[in-house]
Formats: sequence, structure tokens, C-alpha cells
Amino acid sequence: MTTVTHSIGRTSPSEAEEKLVRVYIWEWPVRIAHWVIFLSIVVLSFTGYYMYAPFITSRGSGAFLMGEMRFIHEVTAFVFVAAFLLRVYWFFKGNKWARWRQFLPIGRYQWQGFIGQLQYYLFVRRKPEFRMGHNPLAGATYSMIFALMLIEILTGLALYNRILGSKVLGFFVGWLPMLISIRYLREIHFLIMFAFGAFVIHHVYSAVLIGIEERSGLVGGIFSGYKFFSESRIKEDASHE
Ligand code: HEM
Repeated sequence: MTTVTHSIGRTSPSEAEEKLVRVYIWEWPVRIAHWVIFLSIVVLSFTGYYMYAPFITSRGSGAFLMGEMRFIHEVTAFVFVAAFLLRVYWFFKGNKWARWRQFLPIGRYQWQGFIGQLQYYLFVRRKPEFRMGHNPLAGATYSMIFALMLIEILTGLALYNRILGSKVLGFFVGWLPMLISIRYLREIHFLIMFAFGAFVIHHVYSAVLIGIEERSGLVGGIFSGYKFFSESRIKEDASHE
């Protein structure tokens, strides 16, 4: 931890006098997984939408843009799966802010934070819930996003295996087309892309907003791993291990 002399904005007068401490919150697997997931969703959305409605016309006898888009989509999908698995592993191996408990509003402290943050977004209270990791409402939203990622992976692999016909892959996803018709699997796979798009709009907005409210360097934190907190906040966080 590094101490930084800096006053805190929009906090109580006593807290505003406190020094800020630099704390390492997001370990490298969290940051790598976050940015690989983000970049791969951008590539997957672009190539996936092309497969749905080819918006570029390729010319020339050797042109096979659809094949190229599909190839890029599949390779990126495996990169996406790897980043997802790394993050899932880190739910169990990471520091307290990376662990799975942060993503479920279980227990009194988490539940209070969830309701408090909801009230903040509904303009019922002035200040957001301050937490060193994610606030519990953000945590719960991320669990839904991770669940959507899992559905995206499973439906994608089921679509892929229709053509590949691999027995190994069939073992993992072969049950899916028996449960839901492949046409609907494709539709679900397509529609979730828009859910990611909608999420990103609010996600970036709230990251910037909460970063300004807390003065914690929240946006920078997902790049560097570090955020800034007063000692009283660190003590409060430590009392909720
Ligand atoms: C498809 C795109 C994105 C997805 C799916 C996504 C998802 C997530 C998830 C799941 C987390 C929780 C981190 C973890 O514990 O693993 C997170 C955190 C975060 N994301 Fe994103 N993200 C996306 C794009 C972005 C972008 C473009 C920004 C740009 C500012 C951003 C900024 C942040 C920040 C600042 C945090 C940390 C919030 C905190 O400190 O509490 N994200 N994101």
C-alpha cells in the first residue's frame, strides 16, 4: 500500500482530511480477463453480425469473405473461452475482491449495499455505496453477465459442433440441441450479443460516474489494478472479511 496526500471529494468533512492510500485491488488475471473479454466481444459482434447479415460485398474470383469472417469468429471465440475460464478460476483463487462472494448479494452487509446502490440509481439517496471492490449491485449485474457469457459459449459450441461433429465436444454440448431446437439456439446466441451491447453502455457510464463520486481512481483501476481509499474505508472493508 502506498500513501498519497490528497483530499477526497464529496465525503464527510473529517474524511476529507484523511490521506488516501493506494491499494492493489484488481490482480492481473482479473484485468487480463476483463480486457480480453471486452476485445473479443467487439470482434465476435462484428464478425457474428456479418454472418447474420453480410454488410460488406466481396469481389473477385478468390474472395471468400464469409469464410474469413467465420474463421476469425471461431478463433476469437476460443480466446474468449480461455479468458472466461481464467476469470472463473480466479473466482476461487483470487484476492477477496475477485472472489465469487463479491458477485452474490448474500449476507447483511452485501444486501445493504445492493439496496443502497439501487436507491442511488433511483435518485432516492445522494451518495453511492462505497466499497473497495465492486459494489454489491454491480457484483450481481456482473454475475448475470458471466451467466450470459456461459450461455453464449454453450450455444456457440453447439452451433460449431453441428458442423464439426466432434465426439468430445458433443459430450459437453450435444445435449443442448436435443433440448432446444438449433434454430432457437442460434437466435439466443444472436440476441445475447445485443445484451452485451446494452450492458457496455451502462457499464462505462456507471464506472465513470462512481469513479467521480468516490474519487477512488476506479476507471484507472481496471488498467493498473490500483484504487485509492481513505484509511477509515480500508478499516471498514477489513471488518467485513
Ligand atoms: C463487453 C465489454 C465489457 C464487459 C463484458 C465487461 C465486464 C466487466 C466485468 C465482469 C467486470 C468485473 C471485473 C471482474 O471482477 O472480473 C468489470 C469491471 C470493470 N469494467 Fe468492464 N466490461 C466491459 C467493458 C468495459 C469498458 C469498455 C470499460 C471502460 C472504461 C470498462 C471498465 C470497467 C471498470 C472500471 C471496472 C472495475 C469496476 C470497479 O472498480 O468496481 N469495462 N467489467
